[in-house]
Amino acid sequence: MPCFSGSIAKAAGFDILSCVKLKGLILSGGTGSRLRPITHTSAKQLVPVANKPVLFYGIEALRDAGIREIGIIVGDTAAEIKEAVGDGSQWGVKVTYIAQEAPLGLAHAVLTAAEFLGDSQFVMYLGDNLLRDGISDLVEAFIQNGPDALILLQKVPNPEAYGVAECRDGAVVKLVEKPAEPKSDLALVGVYMFTPAILECARAIKPSPRGELEITDAIQCLIDMKKRVEPHVVQGWWKDTGKLEDMLEANRLILDVLKTDIAGDVENSEIHGRVVIEAGARISNCTIRGPVIIGERTVVHDCYIGPYTSVYYDCELRNSEIEHSIILEQSRVLDLRARMEGSLIGKNVRIARLDHKPKAYRFMVGDNSWIGIV
Ligand code: TTP
Repeated sequence: MPCFSGSIAKAAGFDILSCVKLKGLILSGGTGSRLRPITHTSAKQLVPVANKPVLFYGIEALRDAGIREIGIIVGDTAAEIKEAVGDGSQWGVKVTYIAQEAPLGLAHAVLTAAEFLGDSQFVMYLGDNLLRDGISDLVEAFIQNGPDALILLQKVPNPEAYGVAECRDGAVVKLVEKPAEPKSDLALVGVYMFTPAILECARAIKPSPRGELEITDAIQCLIDMKKRVEPHVVQGWWKDTGKLEDMLEANRLILDVLKTDIAGDVENSEIHGRVVIEAGARISNCTIRGPVIIGERTVVHDCYIGPYTSVYYDCELRNSEIEHSIILEQSRVLDLRARMEGSLIGKNVRIARLDHKPKAYRFMVGDNSWIGIV
């Protein structure tokens, strides 16, 4: 196959990636401390957003950009991730799992993947990140322009919470991780494109004060070596789902573009707006005001389900009002007296009113849980 530059290849109908070695590296290890207690027992990358695990959006973004070989960095939750993703054939990609001994930083994850990466260029994608517009155009820009690294940036109101980039004349000149006094409002989005030069820098840097090999330090090392680091400001929305509010916000953004599809049974209920009722779900005596998605085999009876709610499979909701929330599989919410909102309910949770005496709250709650009562 002849190799052309991006636009010519596109016009001629050639796959630009057939000329370039480009792999994907998804980071799906980590601690997930900001999403405890969910992450005490499960991978945060498998929390469903609009009833699809966050990680799957990343795999699809890489696949849609033409990448067929994907390495997934895994940690303590390796078994769960492997079970969910398998060999990648459901997306038409080949997945290789790479065990990281401990979550020692994003640049440490790159080093851990050195053998898988070989001499390929690669796209590194943080497994808990979501980008509205995918990454296809950016991958093409990376291949066409041929910088040593291409980083994605977005303007944020609170840059001190992110890795922050300073740019001059179309190039990145400085990167700082969570600066106390940010010099710009351009935060690093969790997708990076690298040539193998990043491995040399990841080997050269020392752990940061929080004990991690920071990817910002490794990219700064590229800049210091006079390598070209190209910035791209992302226009569509981007979400890092590492915290509860961001997970709910990502759910809202994805549900906003939901298309109505009623495959389950609906009886004696009012359905307004864009609603998905998956196969085997049963809805009765309810008002459902979309955007809402109800998962397979979930039973909803005598409920109001309000906008921006995702209920996963095999749940049971009765005599309750729920809005702007995510409920994971096999959970039950029964007879609540006040509306539940802004909540993330884990797997196999039961929230119910007890009628027997003594009348008291009764909890069995894991570490780092959070309960608000009225
Ligand atoms: P982070 O969200 O930055 O880190 P974390 O998962 O440890 O979460 P928290 O800060 O709440 O404790 O990680 C971004 C992504 O990269 C996420 O999908 C986890 C993954 N990751 C690794 O795979 N290995 C690592 O060493 C680190 C730090 C993160």
